[in-house]
Amino acid sequence: MIEFINNLPKAELHLHIEGSFEPELMFKIAQRNNIKIPYKSIKEIEEAYKFSCLQDFLDIYYQGAGVLITEQDFYDLTYSYLQKCAAQNVKHTEIMFDPQTHTHRGITFETVIKGISKACKDAEENLNVSSLLIMSYLRHLSEEDAFKTLEQSLPFKHLITAVGLDSSEKGNPPSKFKNVFEASIKQGYIPVAHAGEEGDADYVWEALDLLKIKRIDHGNNSLQDANLIKEIIKRNLALTVCPLSNTALKVVDNLKDHPLKKMLELGLNITINSDDPAYFGGQVNQNYIETQKALNLSKSQIYLLAKNSFKYSFLSEEKKEIYL
Ligand code: ADE
Ligand code: ZN
Repeated sequence: MIEFINNLPKAELHLHIEGSFEPELMFKIAQRNNIKIPYKSIKEIEEAYKFSCLQDFLDIYYQGAGVLITEQDFYDLTYSYLQKCAAQNVKHTEIMFDPQTHTHRGITFETVIKGISKACKDAEENLNVSSLLIMSYLRHLSEEDAFKTLEQSLPFKHLITAVGLDSSEKGNPPSKFKNVFEASIKQGYIPVAHAGEEGDADYVWEALDLLKIKRIDHGNNSLQDANLIKEIIKRNLALTVCPLSNTALKVVDNLKDHPLKKMLELGLNITINSDDPAYFGGQVNQNYIETQKALNLSKSQIYLLAKNSFKYSFLSEEKKEIYL
């Protein structure tokens, strides 16, 4: 089974590039930029990566991202993740990045997007891994701030496919970002959003009806509402489920209790993803392997999950054909 999973061509649809920042690379870049980080060793970093909720994690995640300064830093971060994709038979990936995490520290939008997109271009040529970018607005900041980010992105519109919504979910409902999503759609960006990770089903409804999203990031709490499940199926939307993230952030107590199998049985369109692999103990293949084991998923269910990852990607129909 492990070999079957490792060899299966797959796409990753829910990945934060800042969450792929492995401790080794973080130390290297921190040293290069003369920035002190509050850890002496990889072991100390691993000790710090014990979270009791999303906010616990986010505090450490933003701190880690604080060592990224130059275009080369963003290039190295991204290329390192794409090398892991190649090693796992991930043929295509849709990478989220959080511009505000960096622009709020005085790093320009241009530095971030140029470093990330150059790594994507090189990986397509050298590693045969294709990718596209999802610019995510931070929901703990204001809608006005998201509008500024949208404005900054416009000179680089050709490099960005979609917009997302991430960071602290509770207390920051999708409705807060209705206008900026409307404006983003007008600019040609495809809308997605984190919803129903810690927030309730009504946040998922808002993301569907107000933000007009084309894919749901996480979506676990959709299961609270039978009408919502029906609606998600009717609209043929997929959920980008992240099992090891859910256990690390205590969204789910134990992988054996993960709702993924139930989601499949209900007829929801599910994909498996790593979210922030450097922080949650596993790349995408590890997410497949541990979930398969915990829920006793069959080979045909694993195959369906991998197939869904291409089917619900934002690749052109022509490119999807290669994999479906
Ligand atoms: N940013 C990075 N990972 C996230 C997650 N799992 N939920 C919300 N925001 C995030
Ligand atoms: Zn996420």
